[in-house]
Amino acid sequence: MDTPREPNEAVLPQAVAGPLTRAAIFLVVCIRQDEDAYARLRAFCAGLSGLIRAVEFRDVEAGLTCIAGFGSDAWDKLFGAPRPAELHPFQEIRSGGRHAVSTPGDILFHIRAQRMDLCFELATQIMESIGGVVSIADEVHGFRYFDDRDVIGFVDGTENPRGDAAREAAIVAGEDPAFAGGSYVIVQKYLHDMHAWNALPVEMQERIIGRRKLSDVELNDADKPTFAHNVLTNIVENGRQLQILRDNMPFGRPGHGEFGTYFIGYSRTPRITEIMLQNMFAGRPPGNYDRLLDFSHAATGCLFFVPPATFLDSVTAGAPNVAESAKAPPAPLSTPVAADDTSLRIGSLKGEKDE
Ligand code: HEM
Repeated sequence: MDTPREPNEAVLPQAVAGPLTRAAIFLVVCIRQDEDAYARLRAFCAGLSGLIRAVEFRDVEAGLTCIAGFGSDAWDKLFGAPRPAELHPFQEIRSGGRHAVSTPGDILFHIRAQRMDLCFELATQIMESIGGVVSIADEVHGFRYFDDRDVIGFVDGTENPRGDAAREAAIVAGEDPAFAGGSYVIVQKYLHDMHAWNALPVEMQERIIGRRKLSDVELNDADKPTFAHNVLTNIVENGRQLQILRDNMPFGRPGHGEFGTYFIGYSRTPRITEIMLQNMFAGRPPGNYDRLLDFSHAATGCLFFVPPATFLDSVTAGAPNVAESAKAPPAPLSTPVAADDTSLRIGSLKGEKDE
């Protein structure tokens, strides 16, 4: 990226802290490894906000959003230097028989709306535009299940941070000024052994999750085992709870015996989600692992950086000038504006684009 920025230019995050929706599509693609493909992708990035608006406007009430995240290698090829401070490939974890796999993926599209047809249309338009230069690593169509339950029957998302706390947890700020307004996201596609899970008494399922199944009320600390999911994913440092922003979605194909949870966790540093994964897979202390993993395994694992929407809008098609941009990194960006402050600002940036 060689687009200079004014220090006071407003930075608009992508819709990371957007509302939870009834439908989502998770699309992970790998880019063909040649300069033509990268140039095509850069041009696509600059036009993505327009594509989203075109589909969104067909039913504004349905709240269509799309977040694009980029893997570590893809970042270098597409945008060069500077790069987000903590962007790296997803680190696999092996412990006991448990395995948090690391799988290929250059770009994640997280498409959300209250209506699946809008998600479907946007995914179609995206593939229409870049299908010739990417291959699909994974595609999952998720749906809300009853009262926000995952397919193992528990309400999922209750303790998510909300409002300002969600932005505080998910959006990079002054710690990496060149990428303020961005976010890191880790995704994993989990598949469940529903026969084994359903054979467990509900009381045991509740001890594994750390909450009541029907009412969703949290168990008392005294009743929670040390391996409960909400104990191992509770990270406290210097007296502060470190949070991530999740939007897990159930998916599946009953006819194929497939029942899954698509885990997606946004955070301002990938370190927090990585600690949670370490606790779940290896255990805290080691060996005291998350028993959910006796019934679920991760079939994918990827880490992406989600640059601000304003960054994508200003991408130019030419190859990144790595040497130049490394010499003169862009001026620090101003404080990000609220992520739910969407269409007007994206629209207003159209005329400001450096092309
Ligand atoms: C099989 C996949 C997973 C399922 C079915 C699942 C399900 C749940 C459920 C039912 C809850 C309780 C309700 C809530 O607060 O949301 C929960 C909480 C949580 N989960 Fe997961 N989860 C999964 C994977 C993960 C992973 C991979 C992470 C992080 C790396 C994670 C992080 C969290 C966090 C941070 C909480 C909130 C804990 C608290 O503060 O109470 N989950 N999850």
